[in-house]
Amino acid sequence: MPNPFKYGKEVSGYQFYDRKSDAENLHRKLADGSTNVVLFAPRRYGKTSLVVKVLDRLSTEDGISGICFDMMRIPTLERFCEEYANSVYGLFGKHRELLGKLGNYLAHLHPTISISPTGTPSISFEYGERMTPTSVAEVLDLPERLAADCGGKPFVVAFDEFQEVAGLSKELPLEKIFRSCLQTHRLVRYVFLGSKTHLMKRMFGESTRPFYNSAFPMPLGKPPVDDSMEFLISRFGEAGIALPVSLADAIVSASENIPYYLQAIASLTFEEVESARRNEVAADDVASAIDSFVCANAELFDERLRGLSNAKRSLVDALAEEPVSGFDEQYRKRHGLPVSSTLHTALKELVDDGIVETSSGKYRLSDPMFALYIRRAPARTFISK
Ligand SMILES: Nc1ncnc2c1ncn2[C@@H]1O[C@H](COP(=O)(O)OP(=O)(O)OP(=O)(O)O)[C@@H](O)[C@H]1O
Ligand SMILES: [Mg+2]
Repeated sequence: MPNPFKYGKEVSGYQFYDRKSDAENLHRKLADGSTNVVLFAPRRYGKTSLVVKVLDRLSTEDGISGICFDMMRIPTLERFCEEYANSVYGLFGKHRELLGKLGNYLAHLHPTISISPTGTPSISFEYGERMTPTSVAEVLDLPERLAADCGGKPFVVAFDEFQEVAGLSKELPLEKIFRSCLQTHRLVRYVFLGSKTHLMKRMFGESTRPFYNSAFPMPLGKPPVDDSMEFLISRFGEAGIALPVSLADAIVSASENIPYYLQAIASLTFEEVESARRNEVAADDVASAIDSFVCANAELFDERLRGLSNAKRSLVDALAEEPVSGFDEQYRKRHGLPVSSTLHTALKELVDDGIVETSSGKYRLSDPMFALYIRRAPARTFISK
């Protein structure tokens, strides 16, 4: 029986559960084009999976095509322009007559269009001079112009990890350029996703920032615990393996009900039971699954800890042990934390790096398996920077 659980990449179909009302809500907004949407959640809550699912539905049910463009894997502004232009053009691939317009629409980037042996066009640019706001604007305006050429058909663009945008250029005010272009678009609907929630909140929520109030905010929470339990029990059940409620509960707790960790532990538990050719999950299977996940990641966790200053390390240890809403004196004493100013600088940096996040009103480590690793080996010492 194939393993019904999957983790690491976005999931769809059988491996996707819950998110009904979020999916419905996002679908409605994009289908009627009433507003752009900003969707934020901490790492591994299922943002990309949700958006990809909604894009699929828009395409099959509403005839609205879309792309999900990941800003995280784009190192430079030049790469962004080229890859974005190609992704956008890919949406209009059927309309070969539009190829002839690209030279005009992207005039400042001097595009060259080559056709692969399989007939797929590919756009590249000559960056003779430095990038200018005009050349970036040309790329950003491309989907709107092509959509207009296609009779005003709407399209959707989802920018994944959008908080990375400003970092693509030191010279150009990219946030401002993006905002001033995208706000004029009538045919293209946008979704902005980000896992650095504090950065996304500032970007869309601070009145001095270009994207202030420009999109409908959709915070994505954890799935309801009952849905997670039901997902685990039914997927094991369909594979002929009984998962007792108490052990489904153990998987949900260990993963803190974060979809990625839930699927990872479930997948490893499934492997344990399958390899022993049993048809019921035992408590030891779940414990071994958690151990193997932590073991497999131990080097990575060590590396992460080694990079921390003493102040950050003591804060990380404290939060692994005891998530907290505020750092009062008792908490600081209990965990041997430094004075308030040092503590808050360390906290800010840990949040910026995505190691710490706030959820349910408390600061906690964003990775529950990292927290477990620390709790299991609190006395380990590292050379601090
Ligand atoms: N609706 C869902 N049903 C089941 N599993 C899910 C769901 N959403 C996410 N997952 C699990 O979480 C993993 C990460 O999902 P996804 O990449 O969509 O999250 P993300 O929030 O975009 O993560 P990142 O912050 O790393 O970009 C998936 O590989 C899958 O194991
Ligand atoms: Mg993602």
